[in-house]
Amino acid sequence: MKIVITGGAGFIGSNLAHVLTRRGEVSEVRVVDDLSTGFKDNLAGLDVHFTEGSVLDGPLLDRVFRGTDTIVHLAALPSVPRSVANPLASHHANATGTLTVLEAARRADSAQVIAASSSSVYGANPGIPKHEDLRPVPLSPYAVSKLASEAYLAAFHHCYGLPVLPFRFFNVYGPRQPAGHAYAAVVPAWISALTTGAPVVVHGDGRQSRDFTYVETVCRVLTQAALRKVVSCDPVNLAYGTRTSLGELVTELEAVLGTPLNPQYVPPRPGDVRHSHAENSRLLRLFPEIEPVPLREGLERTVEWFRSHSR
Ligand SMILES: NC(=O)c1ccc[n+]([C@@H]2O[C@H](COP(=O)([O-])OP(=O)(O)OC[C@H]3O[C@@H](n4cnc5c(N)ncnc54)[C@H](O)[C@@H]3O)[C@@H](O)[C@H]2O)c1
Repeated sequence: MKIVITGGAGFIGSNLAHVLTRRGEVSEVRVVDDLSTGFKDNLAGLDVHFTEGSVLDGPLLDRVFRGTDTIVHLAALPSVPRSVANPLASHHANATGTLTVLEAARRADSAQVIAASSSSVYGANPGIPKHEDLRPVPLSPYAVSKLASEAYLAAFHHCYGLPVLPFRFFNVYGPRQPAGHAYAAVVPAWISALTTGAPVVVHGDGRQSRDFTYVETVCRVLTQAALRKVVSCDPVNLAYGTRTSLGELVTELEAVLGTPLNPQYVPPRPGDVRHSHAENSRLLRLFPEIEPVPLREGLERTVEWFRSHSR
């Protein structure tokens, strides 16, 4: 089986490349990535066919997609604050990028397309836990671009019979997640702050909650989705319902690191949602075999990785 990962030099994509290249059923892994937020080093030592380029480049995608069975589309400009600063860039990479990928997948004779949407699409909808039938109320250009992406997947399934699977990722964390830049996610940002002596910054009062998923759990689901060719035109929450407040995350990390974090509380950021907690019965029905990695173990493995790979 031949699999393409768009955005495969990024955090989740490179972890997936590490998993897929060890699977006997997978004969070839191809990566297309423009390295805008990813790093070629993330793929060092792996037997992958790497093409540097953009998912906005249709002819390039035609070459990369030729003869592949599955496309795992992860390329995007992530981050809510990045999209607030530059909405058009997020729209191009995320929404137009997804449309370009779908068009190329259609030309490549209906390869399956698995794609990453985001829990941010629930936005201002106060319903908790978040189940897929809640009305999306996006609060940021990033969330709008992700909602457009999953709607394009459903439309391509209906119009052209393309086999698709849109996942709504929640807060994914783990090895190879970049830290030390303005748009870093909380887990790598806090671990890296501690190792460099910088302050640990909490946006908001610390009572806002997130559903953290270890990246290996996400990769296990994506791998099964590709190998079993799972199809759904409805979005599927990819998280395990572990609602953790940022204050609780501070406590967990203090226990793992064996040192106090002494966080600095600063005002919340525009576009951030208050609570995020997945209802995941659709995921469990489609992937009953997946065992998620628990939060404490995931944090331990992440801290271990950051200690041995400080960039
Ligand atoms: N990390 C999370 O918690 C999370 C949560 C929800 C959704 N997601 C989604 O999961 C996917 C992967 O996210 P990630 O955390 O690994 O981010 P990442 O930034 O590490 O990976 C994205 C990759 O896409 C590449 N890319 C960006 N624009 C591109 C373009 N036009 N053409 C080709 N490559 C391009 C980047 O260089 C990068 O390697 C994204 O679609 C993101 O929106 C992530």
